[in-house]
Parts: sequence; structure tokens; C-alpha cells
Amino acid sequence: SVEELETRVRKIKDKMGKKLFILGHHYQKDEVIQFADATGDSLQLAQMAARNKEAEFIAFCGVHFMAETADILTTDEQKVVLPDMRAGCSLADMADIHQTLLGWEVMQKQFGDTIIPLTYINSTAAIKDFVGRQGGATVTSSNARKMLEWALTQKDRVLFLPDQHLGRNTAFDLGIPLEQMAVWNPIMERFEYEGNFDNVKIILWKGHCSVHALFTVENVKNIRKKHPDVNIIVHPECAREVVELADYAGSTAYIIETIKNAEPGTKWAVGTEMNLVNRLAAKYTDKKIFSLNPFMCACLTMNRIDLPHLTWAIEMIDRGELVNQITVGKEIAEGSTLALDRMLQLS
Ligand code: 13P
Ligand code: SF4
Repeated sequence: SVEELETRVRKIKDKMGKKLFILGHHYQKDEVIQFADATGDSLQLAQMAARNKEAEFIAFCGVHFMAETADILTTDEQKVVLPDMRAGCSLADMADIHQTLLGWEVMQKQFGDTIIPLTYINSTAAIKDFVGRQGGATVTSSNARKMLEWALTQKDRVLFLPDQHLGRNTAFDLGIPLEQMAVWNPIMERFEYEGNFDNVKIILWKGHCSVHALFTVENVKNIRKKHPDVNIIVHPECAREVVELADYAGSTAYIIETIKNAEPGTKWAVGTEMNLVNRLAAKYTDKKIFSLNPFMCACLTMNRIDLPHLTWAIEMIDRGELVNQITVGKEIAEGSTLALDRMLQLS
């Protein structure tokens, strides 16, 4: 039963104390997040993993790239465990290293040595390694603007991997016109761009988050018609047109802070993962909070981490039979550390 599993988790947590650190991303289920020692957006989770020196084990309740990041940022002695190995990220999977190296070669031919790569933290360690070695950095949704500003002081052009929407939304906020953004299609191995290549400032990798793609202009229009007084807040992984029509856009931590500080009685349509929207609605009952998409949008892979997997993973840690350990090989860790450190220093 649920109660039995909860008792087992509590028992292990009490027994292991600070030796075990459970981190939880805001998209995790309530049944899991209730046991997190700390919760956060991607940047905060990376910072907390990097700062924690006392935990021998980190049970990462989030997705694979987050656990990889935690492994890169912790010492060799600290072990990171992902309770369900199937918890990947379809966005991170949209850029593989082979495709990236092929694309980079074409881009070098087109633009010479004028490009610096930036990668959204939602990417594999191999991509972070490539980016770090090329002098670039990682970004999250909460520091993308600052990181893009920095990158444009380094080179004339930026390749932004793998989320075209976060890249486009951030560049647009910096005043870069859409005509100066070319899209790179990694499957076709060519640009989707019809303008003058000399003017290109941003190369957007053609990837997207399948969860945030479910929030549409249609949703925004319908909600505004139904609730003329609504505030619309979305994650910047949503398409440009949706972000443009929304009132606010930002990381999960930003969404939480904004709604927390809003006036009682206000209405909020939220364009992000369902578990976070439901949690906000349950917590701030003095406000009306609902999903921007009436059918709700769930991240399949975030939801794979559930109470049975968490229980199993930490019980195995306690028994000394580690399962689902996430390790990033030394070679790849080198460049990815550079990319992550550049970001952490500027954040
Ligand atoms: P943040 O929590 O950093 O906003 O990231 C959202 C997300 O989609 C994580 O996969
Ligand atoms: Fe990846 Fe999107 Fe799920 Fe976040 S919400 S883990 S970006 S698929």
C-alpha cells in the first residue's frame, strides 16, 4: 500500500540522515516530492548538488540529464542514483553528439570561427562536453538571457542547442529580430533559413519539448475569452507565439514565486507541467490556478519516478547494493565541467 511504502521511505531517510540527499524537480509527483530534502528548478538543483559535500548518495528525483549534471558537479566519492532509468527527456534526446559534430562542421564552413555554442542544461553530458570544449556554456531557463548576452561578447554568433524555443524566446528578448535567427535541422543536416546568412546571429537547433509544445495560441485565445481577467504565465520552452501572448514567462521557480506573490483572488492560467500546476492550485487556494491547456500536460518521463521506484532505489542504497547509478565518464566530464562552471560562475 501507499502507506506502507511511505513508512519504508521514512525509515531509510531516518536511518541514513545526511548521508542520503533526495533532490526533487518541481515537475515530480506529490508522492515523491514530499520526501525531497530540497526542491528546485534546474539551476537550483545543479547548485544544490554542487554545494552538498556531506551526502554520500544523491537520489535524484528528476530526469536523466539532471542526474548526469549532479554527477559531474559532485565528487567521485558521491554517488548519484536515478530511481527509474527510463526517466529521460525527449528534448535532451533531440541532439545527439554525432549529429552535433556533423552540424558544427557545416556551420564552420558557413560562418568560419565566429560561432560559440550554448546548450540548454536539458542535454546529454556528451553535448555539454562538446560545448565546454568549444568555449561555450550551459544555460537554464532562469539564466538564459544573461548567458546569451555573455556568449555574444565572446563571438559574433551563437549556436543554441537543443531547444529552439528557449533560444528564440531569449534572443528575441535581447532585441535580436527573428530574421537574424536561422534554424538548423539536424535530421536533414541543413539550415531552414531563407535570409542573408551574413546577418545570422543565432543558430537554433531544431529541438523542442513535447510537453510545452501542447500549449497553443488557440489555448491562449480560448482562456482569454472565457476569463478576460486571467493572468497567463508560461515556461519559455513554449513556442514564441505563445510566449508573446502570455503575460509572464520564466522558469519553474519563477512561475512559483510569481504566483505565490500574486494578490488573493487573481486568476492564473499556467503553461507548464501538470504536477506543478496541480500543486500550485492546491497550495494557493486563495487564487484560482489552472492549466493553460484544458486537458493538462504531463511529462511522461518525469512521471516515471514514482513512490515504488523511489522506495526501491533508496532501500538498495541502504543495503549496499546500489542500483541505477548515473556516472559520467572522465573524458566527457572534463568539457561538461567547463560548460557548467562557466554558467555557475555567472549565475
Ligand atoms: P526549469 O525547472 O529549470 O524551469 O526546467 C523546466 C524543465 O522542463 C525541466 O525539464
Ligand atoms: Fe524534458 Fe520537457 Fe519533460 Fe522537461 S518537461 S523533462 S524538457 S520533456
